[in-house]
Amino acid sequence: MTKQKNNIFIALAWPYANGSLHLGHLAGLLGGDIVARYYRLAGHKVLMVSGSDCHGTPIAVEADKQGVEPAVIASKYHTEFKDIFLNKLNFSFDCYTTTTTKNHEQAVQEFFLDLQKKGYIYSKFEDLAYCETCQRFLPDRYVEGECPKCQFISARGDQCDNCGALLDANQLIKPRCKTCGSTPIWKPSEHFFLKLSAFQAQLEKWVSKSEGWRPNAKNFTLNFLKEGLHDRAITRDTNWGIDIPLDGYEAKKIYVWFEAVIGYFSASREWAESTGNAQAWQEFWQNDSCLHYYFHGKDNIPFHTVIWPAMLMAKEALHLPDRIISSEYLTLEKKQLSKSRHWAVWLPDFLAKFEADTIRYYLVISGPETSDADFSWTEYQVKVNTELIGKFGNLANRVFSFVNKHCPDGLVASDIRLDKPAEDLLKLTEEAFTSVGDGISQAKFRDSLKVILNLAESANRYLEETSPWKQIATDRQSAERALYTASQVIYNLATLLNPFIPQSTDKILAMLGQERKQAWQYTTLPAVQITKVEPLFARIEDAVVEQEFKALGQ
Ligand code: MF3
Ligand code: ZN
Repeated sequence: MTKQKNNIFIALAWPYANGSLHLGHLAGLLGGDIVARYYRLAGHKVLMVSGSDCHGTPIAVEADKQGVEPAVIASKYHTEFKDIFLNKLNFSFDCYTTTTTKNHEQAVQEFFLDLQKKGYIYSKFEDLAYCETCQRFLPDRYVEGECPKCQFISARGDQCDNCGALLDANQLIKPRCKTCGSTPIWKPSEHFFLKLSAFQAQLEKWVSKSEGWRPNAKNFTLNFLKEGLHDRAITRDTNWGIDIPLDGYEAKKIYVWFEAVIGYFSASREWAESTGNAQAWQEFWQNDSCLHYYFHGKDNIPFHTVIWPAMLMAKEALHLPDRIISSEYLTLEKKQLSKSRHWAVWLPDFLAKFEADTIRYYLVISGPETSDADFSWTEYQVKVNTELIGKFGNLANRVFSFVNKHCPDGLVASDIRLDKPAEDLLKLTEEAFTSVGDGISQAKFRDSLKVILNLAESANRYLEETSPWKQIATDRQSAERALYTASQVIYNLATLLNPFIPQSTDKILAMLGQERKQAWQYTTLPAVQITKVEPLFARIEDAVVEQEFKALGQ
């Protein structure tokens, strides 16, 4: 049976452009690049998008703190994010953009007007938090208080960061102005509302039929729906954001979450424009054979499983999310990440000192895929030195250096007679393609990487048993067979590992003098010849991790 090739749309959450990216961001987004790389190799059309989330109170609050305009903050961090994702982490985006483009503004305003015309957006007056000292309304993060659901002390006006509950400011216990600490009064203000309540039944049906979501996303969403959906305000009293496309609302803007999720769609149109075929987005949004994956941290769940799907249902004729891949949280040395307490590992610092593939590896093998996970410097050192280097790096290095030295003219397939152990190892290599490919498409990254790790271990064991290093002097034929077989395994590892550690797998190909073939398939080289040898990863020394650990919280 030939499998139908779906078009794969891959949507990564848009990080707020209000501070540098840290390991927690990467933990939630990395899976998107892994899936994208896998599907491209497997011959699917892939569109992977995201961008910097530049509006809303997260950016405005930071701008106030630094005494600059929000636009300054947004553009500074957008530039930084772009460099980190594209140049440092090697994320294979087809489009990484921002919410400040004209294209995005147009898409958002079209969406807004269309939903309003259909009756899914309506306006009404509501009593909102207002600070008499600051003389302003207090949208979202400008008001804090105790969470009515989990009693967390610093819940924000729109969401509790502790339990993930979506809130309205009037639900907060003992609300206070974030800027001056005063208790707000309640004052009427006119706003637009999204008629979420109209989608209760449709969403329930859709969620219960959904497949391949992370369990945290499904559970959270089912509970959320059980509580009953309420219409939510999608505009704010603020001057930072996208204009409401109607006369008389000049002092208000569209709520950041309503517009940011539309970014998935507007970025697809931006990408289409850039290819010279402005309609190309339709292949991913208005085509029955496409599959949409969404990647984010668990605090983002309701926006991607309820609000965005409801908006899409209201808009009609656009593809709904298929796979919701929500990560759990990452702690740092067993403590919650905290910007103010300097308890964080910032990606610009980290990537200036360490190779991207080392952290990509760590966050798959020890990351928050199925439960909260911890990053510790010593654990990172162990994973890099004993697994990445000990199992993969040394394998390639030993075999390739030896081939280079003892078989400079190469090992030609027609000269080699495989025996049972060699055949078994190559069979195992071939089989890995199916299990790893299936695993990645189901977003089971850790299990998939473990299959590859086991394969590398089998290759190492095979080399111990055949010991070509000794045999080369006494039984050249057997030694060549072992080196040839191991080289073919390493060549295939350069494909199997590509979604996880792309840079290192390119190094493997370079050592073999090969170009990457776009195929997720077991292949052997007709001749193995080494053009150069270079180490895949640098060892992480004790002194380095000690220093990094000490620097935390400083
Ligand atoms: N900026 C949000 C956050 O960092 C995520 C937005 S995802 C979006 O939590 F696509 F909806 F924008
Ligand atoms: Zn105030």
